[in-house]
This record gives sequence, C-alpha cells and structure tokens, in this order.
Amino acid sequence: MKEPLILALESSCDETAVALTKGNKIICSLVSSQVKDHRPFGGVVPEIASRKHVIAINYLIDKALLEGNLDFKDIKAVAVCKGPGLVGALMVGMAGAKTLALALQVPLISINHIEAHIFSIIPENSWLKTPFVCLIVSGGHTMLVHVQNFGRYKLLGETLDDAAGEAFDKVAKFIGLSYPGGPEIEKAATAGNENKYAFPRPLLKSGDFNFSFSGLKTALIYFVRKLEAEGKQYKTEDVAASFQKAVVDVLVEKSINAAKQLGTENIAIVGGVSANSHLRNTFAEQAKNFRIKIALPSRDLSTDNAAMVGLAAGFHYLKRDFSNFKEDVDPNWPLISP
Ligand code: KG4
Ligand code: ZN
Repeated sequence: MKEPLILALESSCDETAVALTKGNKIICSLVSSQVKDHRPFGGVVPEIASRKHVIAINYLIDKALLEGNLDFKDIKAVAVCKGPGLVGALMVGMAGAKTLALALQVPLISINHIEAHIFSIIPENSWLKTPFVCLIVSGGHTMLVHVQNFGRYKLLGETLDDAAGEAFDKVAKFIGLSYPGGPEIEKAATAGNENKYAFPRPLLKSGDFNFSFSGLKTALIYFVRKLEAEGKQYKTEDVAASFQKAVVDVLVEKSINAAKQLGTENIAIVGGVSANSHLRNTFAEQAKNFRIKIALPSRDLSTDNAAMVGLAAGFHYLKRDFSNFKEDVDPNWPLISP
C-alpha cells in the first residue's frame, strides 16, 4: 500500500507540535514550546498550556503545509495524541484533529503518547529490529518495556512514584535552577564534581525493574538543608552533577539488567530525559562491556514532538486502527491496557 501523508498533532503538555510524515519519513516537524510562559511558575500551569495550544495550533498547521509545500487535499489521515497528558491540553489537539479529519473526509488516528515516544527511535536507527528493551524516561513516565514487536509491549517495570524527569525538575527548582530542570541540571553538572556527594541509588538492587526517584529527591533536599543549617558552603554544580549521576546510574544498570535477562542485544532510550548527554555517554560506555547496542532518537525527537505521533500513526494506518468521531481524550491512557 502506498504510504499515506499524515498530519500529526501533539498537545499533551507544554509543547504545541505539528508534523507531516509519510511512512518512516518526517517531511516537516514543528514544535512551539511554551517554556517561557510556564517558567515564572516553576512548572506547567495546565490552564495556560491549554490556552497557548489554542493560540498556536492553527498557525503551526498552516506553517507545516507551507514548509512541506503541500496542501490540505494531500493529507490522507490526521493523527493526534489522545493521552496520557493534561486533559485540557489534549482536548485542543483532539478538537483540531477531529475537525480536520471530518472536513477532509480522511481517517482519524488516536495515538498513545508513550507509544509515540517508542516510535521516535525509528528515523535514526534503521538497524534496530524487534525485540528490544525500551527505556521510556520523560517528565511523566519512567518505564522499562519489552518491545516484542511494534504494537506488542510487555511492561517490565516502572516508577513507583516520581518520573525521572519530574525528579530533575523538582531538584532543579529546589537548588534555584529554572524550569524545565533537566537541561538546567545537565548544564550546571558540567561544572560540578559528580563524585562529591553520594546520593542514594533507589531500588538499584531490588531485583526487579521498578524505579523510585521521590526518595532520592527528598534525601537531596534534607542533605542540602543540613549543609545550609550548619553554615557549610556547597556548590550547586556539585549537587547537580552528583544527583544526575545517581539517576543515570540507576537507569543504566536496570536497563542493562533487563536486556541481559531477556537475552536481547538492543536497548532503545526515548523520552525527554534521553536528551541528557551524561545518560547518553554512560549508556554508550556500559553497553560496550555487555555487547549491547544502544538506540537513541535525535535530541529533537527525544523531547515532545508531533513527528513521533505521525510515525506511530503510519504503523496504525496500515492496521486500519482508525477512531470514530466520538473519540475522546484519555489523560491516563496506559501504554498497555490492563
Ligand atoms: O518527553 P518530554 O518532553 O515530555 C513528557 O512526556 O514528559 O520530557 C520532558 C522531561 C522534563 O522533565 C525535562 O526536564 C526532561 O524531560 N529533560 C531532560 C533533558 N531535557 C529534557 N532531563 C535531563 N536532561 C536533559 N537534557
Ligand atoms: Zn513526552
């Protein structure tokens, strides 16, 4: 079957994103970040996110078509992130997608945001074949999944409390860095000593593939408060570097253990935190010792974007996984239905 041109929309959190894809090819991918709107509040304000999506989405759709030198009549399906995410933010994308699909008389394809992150691996890693272990590590999720095939996922483990990105964001806020915290901690850490403070590595030896980052965050907060109460000097950069190392150590060791246990040679790492250079470098170093190959998306595809929604939709189009116009968003839509 000829690969259809898909218009994809993503509005689950604080990025309004529109992309045009065809099969595994990204024709155009636009992201309008709301970071500066949320920064004064130290995190995403859902109401502001929804309103900003409304303002940006039509402009981005027009711009994508212009950049791709394409017309509405060229679109063969409209894909949208249905969840998980912020309900009001998701509703903007869903309303836009339904309207377009109805007006253009083309199928509507609802995509799970976590599955979309898995598909972000495709463009840069044509060598990667299923099955593989996938670490999904973002602001909302931290999970290890066995990708038996695209569309067939087995949950190996997940965070029992905060997601890794969430911990980056909260720790950054605590040590006075701005939102979003992940890139800020990464930047500060380059000037710090990662061995200065031995923060805990939660659940590292738990024997399963679950994670926990809330306790690490709390331990760090108590530790820094104690230093301050005792009048001891410390460098934010050392705290950032030591924290980043603690998180990365756990993510890397557990992912490699999962691959070893399942006898798979390949690990894919996706989601916003996969943009982190220390995580990328540590995975690369450790994987060599176990003859494991690491697949990473480009940094643009690590953080939220609509190209990954379009790539996932290309797969679901071939299976005719179409939604009807009664479709609604699902803020808690799991990757794997119970
Ligand atoms: O995938 P994403 O864009 O949105 C969600 O689906 O959550 O991930 C956003 C998260 C934020 O918590 C952000 O701080 C984190 O990814 N992040 C990073 C880096 N870039 C983004 N964390 C660590 N290092 C980075 N360079
Ligand atoms: Zn995401």
